[in-house]
Amino acid sequence: MSKNIGNWDKAKREGRKLSFITAYDHPFARMADAAGLDGILIGDSLGMMIGGAPDTLGVSLEQMEYHTAIVAKAVQKALIMADLPFGSFEESPAQAFAASARLMKAGAEIVKLEGGAPMVETVAFLSARAVPVCAHIGLTPQHVRQFGGFKRQGKTPEAAERLIEDAIALAQAGARMVLMEAIPADVAAEITRRVSVPTIGIGAGPGTDAQVLVLHDVLGLNMDRAPGFARTYINGAALMQEALTKYAEDVRASKFPE
Ligand code: KIV
Repeated sequence: MSKNIGNWDKAKREGRKLSFITAYDHPFARMADAAGLDGILIGDSLGMMIGGAPDTLGVSLEQMEYHTAIVAKAVQKALIMADLPFGSFEESPAQAFAASARLMKAGAEIVKLEGGAPMVETVAFLSARAVPVCAHIGLTPQHVRQFGGFKRQGKTPEAAERLIEDAIALAQAGARMVLMEAIPADVAAEITRRVSVPTIGIGAGPGTDAQVLVLHDVLGLNMDRAPGFARTYINGAALMQEALTKYAEDVRASKFPE
């Protein structure tokens, strides 16, 4: 799939499904790109997946810049999306532009920001200033303390309606993609029908234009429990631990080096 976001709109029109995955470093980004993933997200989930934090709130813009730069060096074909971390964009559209410019200079081709209606003005500001934006709604992990945990969103008819209105307003403000996390499948499908830009789902059912998963969940590297909506394709942690155990045993038994 192309780095040209216009082609993502075309894929939506043609009903072609697209795949995103997170990656935070050079070797995994390279593997994901070679595997044919359409997009790579340098998510602020890096604070949890590689930093061991309980949530994403401690991730800094400097950390996002560093990881975006090392991923960008590895990726030839996939679209590169980077997260604006908590505290780097909410104060004002100008603050959001300054942070986005840093991520774009590091190699991001589109930035993602969390938040619904309160972010409409910021999305319009960024879009008018050459910053492609993906709006992230639903279970926005940066709001975890306000939500009282990582809880599914849009469960009541009113909350579902608010999500639909937010998605439409964000797309009309210029968002090039809408990412929906942990919301009911019928709400995500309805949003996908009602916005002209591609939608990306995670825990939002099969009715979105694209899917995204966290790399560590897919590869079984998340040694804590992966969320129920993720699919783990390999028990990477067990395989790698086995290899490391073997290496340590070989050294102890003087089998390595020979
Ligand atoms: O940071 C992240 O990995 C994300 C995904 C969960 C969509 O935002």
